[in-house]
Amino acid sequence: MSLHPQFIIDASYLAAAFLFIYGLKRMSSPVTARSGIVVAGIGMLVATLASFLYFFGVAEAARPHLSVNITLAATALFIGTALSWWQGKRVAITAMPQMVALYNGMGGGSAAAIAAVELLRTDAHHTLIPLVVTIIGALIGSISLSGSLIAWAKLDGKIDKTWRMRGQQVLNGTIFLATLAVGAYIVFFAHGHADPRIVAAFFAGALIFGVLMTMPIGGADMPVVISLYNAFTGLAVGFEGYVLQNPALMIAGMVVGSAGTLLTLLMARAMNRSVANVIFSNFGVTGDEQQGEIKGSMKPADASDAAVNMRYASKVIIAPGYGLAVAQAQHKLYEFVKLLVDAGVDVKFAIHPVAGRMPGHMNVLLAEAGVPYDMIYDLEDINGEFKEADVAVVIGANDTVNPAARTNKSSPIYGMPILNVDQAKQVYVIKRGQGKGYSGVENELFFADNTNMVYGDAQKVMVAMIQAVKSLEGGH
Ligand code: TAP
Repeated sequence: MSLHPQFIIDASYLAAAFLFIYGLKRMSSPVTARSGIVVAGIGMLVATLASFLYFFGVAEAARPHLSVNITLAATALFIGTALSWWQGKRVAITAMPQMVALYNGMGGGSAAAIAAVELLRTDAHHTLIPLVVTIIGALIGSISLSGSLIAWAKLDGKIDKTWRMRGQQVLNGTIFLATLAVGAYIVFFAHGHADPRIVAAFFAGALIFGVLMTMPIGGADMPVVISLYNAFTGLAVGFEGYVLQNPALMIAGMVVGSAGTLLTLLMARAMNRSVANVIFSNFGVTGDEQQGEIKGSMKPADASDAAVNMRYASKVIIAPGYGLAVAQAQHKLYEFVKLLVDAGVDVKFAIHPVAGRMPGHMNVLLAEAGVPYDMIYDLEDINGEFKEADVAVVIGANDTVNPAARTNKSSPIYGMPILNVDQAKQVYVIKRGQGKGYSGVENELFFADNTNMVYGDAQKVMVAMIQAVKSLEGGH
């Protein structure tokens, strides 16, 4: 007895769906996350391979075009796989958000392309609901494509961070409504058989709207925007999966759409903002318009003095940030921490949800260095402990420890929860110089009475600190 290809396809899609969801579940803990990625990747492989079975006897009508389609699909698959493999291997971890934005945009674009094929097919017989779903998927997918490309260019420093003009909201609103009107025409008047120029106008409107919506957003808000587009792409893929009656696309789209929506809400909450506030206001864009006079002065300290101080402390909390990733100092940092722990110091790591440049960035770095998970604490679990800490060490972090977020109503980052490092008895800030954080806001922590600045590249400072503690123990 031979199995019908359609049965194999359906069974494979079901298996892929299980693998996606199980993989996602495993990603919820750092201990299992790595295998979760592999499991979800296998799911994607199964779904992709199963899709090729469509050529064998399932869609009889497609047979005359069989060789062409297979060649085209296999070529696209080969080029896509090779390019992304190569890029994934060589991407720096600091450039990961750009890469995520780029691939995310490609997903939205693919969903929009599926919709375009449906809307331009002359032989199609459209019914109302699938047609509406096609148009919505096309709209969301196109916005996600052009918006993600702008987000990529901004994060990569290819275009200026923000671009604003008077009446921007009115212009955006007009273009959006005009695009919706063209979409409504295609559905209700042309019944899915509109002139190709009208279909092109619809896509152009959606793409332009994606660009205009993203251009004014900048500063610390980019991660939320990227996550929002991720959710958009998922939705668009899910909608187009419905149009094609393809369960794998529907399930993958729904999983990405709901995970992306949750992540967007969680990140907006971590910055104490609403998603609408991120997208429609200019708040958080730049630090230029901030802020009151900062009193006090920055007091430099020697790396070795700071290290010795920590060696004789009983409780030390470390707040890592983007600079740790730039300096790739995570291994040296952990080497130093092990010396402190051996000397009987209670050391903990405090992780801000948007420290670094991508969700989980610090967790990834620390895991890479072998820091045990039970030394790593989330903001809400550790914030109460800073007032009992003898020393708080800020290493390459800035915005995520800026007390202005708590106290200065005129600051662009006011309201964002921060790590309460300023409440420790002594604070050491390790950074290279006077560089500002991502949001461009001055940091009053650096001027506080209980703060000393340890200037230098994080890795070099850690090497000096390790030496200082070792020489204290009579080592070399
Ligand atoms: P930031 O506020 O970006 O500050 C990083 C600091 O590291 C800078 O002030 C810089 O000062 C220092 N630094 C850079 N290279 C260094 C090196 N080699 N050695 C030592 N220090 C170095 O970092 P953060 O506190 O992690 O905050 C993250 C910011 O990025 C937030 O505003 C967040 O909203 C935004 N953001 C987050 C994400 C996600 S999802 N995590 C994505 C995009 C943007 P010097 O130049 O003086 O050294």
